[in-house]
Amino acid sequence: MPLLGTSYSFLYEIFGGILNVINKMAEKYPSPTQFYVAHKVLVGIYEPDQIKIVLRSKNCLDKSIIYKYGESLFGTGLLTAPVYIWTRSRRMIAPIFNAYMLKKFFKVFAKKALILNEELEQIAQNNNEIVFLKYIAKCVLGITCDTMDIKMETDILHQFMKAIKRLKEIARYRFWKIYLHPDIIFNLTAMGREQKKILNFMQAAIDKMIQQRINHSNTVKYNDDTIDCSSLDMLIASSHIEKFTRKEICDNIITLIITGSDSITFTTHLVIFMLANFPKIQEKVYKEMLDIYGMETPNTTPVKYDDIQRMHYLDCVVKETLRIFPTVPLIGRKLMEDLKIGNHILPKGTDVVIPIIHLHRNEKYWPNPLTFNPDRFLPDKIKANPSYYYIPFSDGPRNCIGMNYGMIAIKVILATLVRAFIFKVDKSIDIKDIQLNIYIILSTIKPLKIKIEKRNLQQNSVKIC
Ligand code: HEM
Repeated sequence: MPLLGTSYSFLYEIFGGILNVINKMAEKYPSPTQFYVAHKVLVGIYEPDQIKIVLRSKNCLDKSIIYKYGESLFGTGLLTAPVYIWTRSRRMIAPIFNAYMLKKFFKVFAKKALILNEELEQIAQNNNEIVFLKYIAKCVLGITCDTMDIKMETDILHQFMKAIKRLKEIARYRFWKIYLHPDIIFNLTAMGREQKKILNFMQAAIDKMIQQRINHSNTVKYNDDTIDCSSLDMLIASSHIEKFTRKEICDNIITLIITGSDSITFTTHLVIFMLANFPKIQEKVYKEMLDIYGMETPNTTPVKYDDIQRMHYLDCVVKETLRIFPTVPLIGRKLMEDLKIGNHILPKGTDVVIPIIHLHRNEKYWPNPLTFNPDRFLPDKIKANPSYYYIPFSDGPRNCIGMNYGMIAIKVILATLVRAFIFKVDKSIDIKDIQLNIYIILSTIKPLKIKIEKRNLQQNSVKIC
């Protein structure tokens, strides 16, 4: 295979994981380049034009080996499904994210954001820096469960969430231990048995919920006026057409809850941290909120669907955060056919890796890449056409199905919180000093802490006028 640059990386764990390995490869060798992580051969692609070829090709829809340990969590759910299952799943799930459903979900986003607001009122009285992530995580989990129509008794839901957390820990542990990679060995270990038990519990909980839903819909008589299909009803109904098994529905529900809540939580948390770290940018966002809502509080005037279109600067702030901290920093595909990339032919079966984070922090496309500057995304500065050096939601047929859902939910939470609170840090942090790792999605090695202060509406409005 005519590929340039080969490297053996045994020390990836010490240097902060696969991200650093790929960064080093990309700095040293032109794309595409072949490298090893543990015993696996991967081909890194990090030139926008080459990425475009991969993401748009119908022969690059299967996921690469790097998703292997996500399979224990997501099974044949959309994220990790082999392409012959994925095609049907995508058809089944896409309607859940259409414009009508997003408008319907909006009420949930706004309601849960207000509940978070209330919770923070208590915390804002304490003047210490806190780890804020768990409050957002609870709010977002409420959003994903409600919009996906997941109704479980509280204690089962609690166990369910603990189970997900544990499965993610297991998947991560296994990823780094080469000797645990073969299923035949892993399944014999105590961890392998624990994983099986957890998965059985989760399947049973969702199965019970689906059955209850089916029983319920059999007793409800719908007519044209009363039809108000929920996400779960839609999944159950389309599963008859697409001939899905109960297990496949369960896998997709788990996939949507985890991908949805993890990505929104991480991004919202990072945006708030950036606002705390860069107070002038926070005040510009607040000014935009004042232009939209005046002095009305979120409680008296909650965010409405049409308001989102007017939050141009907030949009830039979220995009800039996703540039520096792309929630999914790395994606991978397995080639279903030979693929021509520049002068190279990558053979069928090649595992291709696209380091989104490397592109997003590449000086060639983003001058001063570690400077947080939302103005980069102002309409007159950014090209209208999608450029493949900014792909936080990936692109092509297998892009993020929850992109609009995620962006709207994040903005609703932020637009609610920024109006009521000021976020601060005791000491600002240089972005280069925020160490990152992958824990299914991107994560920070050290927890980020912030201080929350209740806004004095009168005082703040005077300050920024
Ligand atoms: C800031 C928010 C989000 C970001 C940055 C993000 C990013 C991504 C990326 C980069 C991919 C492509 C993964 C790949 O090619 O392997 C992806 C796929 C996916 N995302 Fe998101 N995502 C976000 C929010 C959401 C939400 C809210 C949901 C669901 C409620 C969701 C569900 C999914 C699913 C199911 C896939 C797999 C799609 C497929 O294979 O057809 N994501 N996401």
